[in-house]
Amino acid sequence: MADRLDSLSGELLAAVDAAADLKALDDVRVAALGKKGSLTDAAKSLGQLPPEERREAGRRVNEVKDAFTAALNAKKADLEASALDARLMAETVDVTLPVRPQPMGRLHPVGQVMEEITAIFADMGFAVAEGPDIDDDFHNFTALNFPPEHPARDMHDTFFIEGHKELVLRTHTSTVQIRTMLAQKPPLRIIAPGRTFRCDSDATHSPMFHQVEGLVIDRTTHMGHLKGCLEDFARAFFERDDAPLRLRPSFFPFTEPSAEVDVRCRRTKEELIVGEGDDWLEILGCGMVHPNVLRNVGLDPDEWQGFAFGMGIDRMAMLKYGIPDLRTFFETDLRWLKHYGFVPLDTPTTFAGLAR
Ligand code: PHE
Repeated sequence: MADRLDSLSGELLAAVDAAADLKALDDVRVAALGKKGSLTDAAKSLGQLPPEERREAGRRVNEVKDAFTAALNAKKADLEASALDARLMAETVDVTLPVRPQPMGRLHPVGQVMEEITAIFADMGFAVAEGPDIDDDFHNFTALNFPPEHPARDMHDTFFIEGHKELVLRTHTSTVQIRTMLAQKPPLRIIAPGRTFRCDSDATHSPMFHQVEGLVIDRTTHMGHLKGCLEDFARAFFERDDAPLRLRPSFFPFTEPSAEVDVRCRRTKEELIVGEGDDWLEILGCGMVHPNVLRNVGLDPDEWQGFAFGMGIDRMAMLKYGIPDLRTFFETDLRWLKHYGFVPLDTPTTFAGLAR
């Protein structure tokens, strides 16, 4: 009996040690202490021993049982701890991952529309030209055929620079017509987007606003080309198969003949739909470059001719995206920008779509 208990004890402790998980460990426990377990059997068989051996054997059975139970509990605690560790490892959370889509900055509608207009004219072969925000009387007025003291100067509500009589904040991007014709030889085909300034402020006028200028100079370009070019532009910009335009006679000192261009539209109480309806809405000024302007930059009007146009970018943004008040453009209100702004990664192209 004593030998049998010794080897049973060894077997049981080895089995406890070998148990790989809690389930296996419980099987070992049942195999020893269950109804038909090996230790239960050993305890039962004590009754068959002669009384003088029984006592010693009983003590030994209890010893083996205690050692086994202690080993069992220790192993159980062990296995539980490593099961918890394994679970924690499996459920690891990478705290550096974003928990929700990152808030992203927005592009201002003026920048967006500037990109859209540039993309359209770039497709038609126009290059982008630039000029300074502060310019002189020559580029802003004189070279553009505004004679000194001419009343047309007053229509521009000009900001003058204190202490610099000849400097102004440019009242239009037409200054870039002059700069380009002075710097480059024709044929020319440029657009010039940029900031412009006039002393005026209400729901549709801001003292600082944006224009894009267009200029084409070569030997044969005529008014028909101007109209066709603007029609192509309007269809592309308003993203419609048809965006009918109307040219109304007008006056600018630097173009002759001059026209203002309206786009067909329909106004309802809530919205303005461009391209259909019975109403007309002015979108830009244009005309054939005045012979005096060509002379002012040293071009012979008998050899060179072309057209120019200028439109308000802010106004185009209001029209296309239904923004009612121009002043809100420059209030830097984050809620406004979240509502009217554009996702910066969507670059406007004429092939992939201007705005998404
Ligand atoms: N410069 C004019 C304006 O600011 C627009 C214009 C540009 C008109 C070019 C004709 C030709 O109103």
